[in-house]
Amino acid sequence: MIYPVIWHNNSVTLIDQTRLPNEYAVVEIHRSEDMARAIKTMIVRGAPAIGVAAAYGMYLGAREIETTDKQLFWEGLEKVAQLLRSTRPTAVNLFWAISRMMKTAYETPGTVAEIQQNLLQTAQAINAEDLQTCQAIGDHGLAVLPTTPEKLTILTHCNAGALATAGYGTALGVVRSAWREGRLERVFADETRPRLQGAKLTAWECVQENIPVTVITDNMAAHCMKQGLIHAVVVGADRIAANGDTANKIGTYSVAIAAKAHDIPFYVAAPLSTIDFDLADGSQIPIEERNPEEVYQVGDTMLTPLGVEFYNPAFDVTPAELITAIITEQGAFAPDDLVKLQLQLVT
Ligand code: MRU
Repeated sequence: MIYPVIWHNNSVTLIDQTRLPNEYAVVEIHRSEDMARAIKTMIVRGAPAIGVAAAYGMYLGAREIETTDKQLFWEGLEKVAQLLRSTRPTAVNLFWAISRMMKTAYETPGTVAEIQQNLLQTAQAINAEDLQTCQAIGDHGLAVLPTTPEKLTILTHCNAGALATAGYGTALGVVRSAWREGRLERVFADETRPRLQGAKLTAWECVQENIPVTVITDNMAAHCMKQGLIHAVVVGADRIAANGDTANKIGTYSVAIAAKAHDIPFYVAAPLSTIDFDLADGSQIPIEERNPEEVYQVGDTMLTPLGVEFYNPAFDVTPAELITAIITEQGAFAPDDLVKLQLQLVT
């Protein structure tokens, strides 16, 4: 199994995702500032994985605060939370995990030392729960995939795999479960410009587990659908609004449009922690804009002439009406049913 974030030897070990697939390297994180930098520079990335990483970052920050005064401790921890929140704006799991850690800090009775200890336990719980959640998503996904043909080809975009979660993955969790049950013929992985998470990370994960994978450039997806090469699309999510509109890696929206045009089911696989019930629809989801260098440069090679302008939004929003179902750890829901799910969760 692939675990991108591990608590080990009193520090956090991250798989350095900026180096894959050419080099498997790990980075040891001892301080909250280093965790914030690792999230920002995408050493660790993917919505659930940055939630887990941020939770550990909160603990690392908590143990850096040298006081026995609870008020001063909470003030110090709010600063750590602020730093971690400023790393990436779109994936709501980051904010969700930090809020859960702050709640633990405020609600744990006892001394600062006892709160610090409980923060570590909470971060470890977030980590362990995400792994179980992904396995449940994988199995619920299996139940909604088309029943014919017996062996499916599934297209995915970006990397919503073990590397993007505590392990197993969301969209790739569905793929893994389908592979295990003999329901998968092959994965088609969009390369996912500009950072190539599909070509580099999804393909790497599949190769590790001998899952047959075909990498295509992003502009080939509609053609492959027309050729009858794709039976279903499964993607992850960074934030899902209450009406089902879903932010995911840039390019997901065009894949959803192409899937609709070819009558191919389009599934979003995500934990409940990715649903932001505070946002009525996707227009309010903050979209991260990244360095234009990611668009105009590959390695040391410039792709464009000088004097050109660039735009580099890292995510887009797929409207709910293009989504067949949202697969969560509690089952698959039509986007319209998220509101009912919210009611179930609060009662
Ligand atoms: O910019 P990234 O690589 O963090 O974007 C990741 C994605 O868009 C994933 O599809 C999403 O976070 C879901 S991961 C289970």
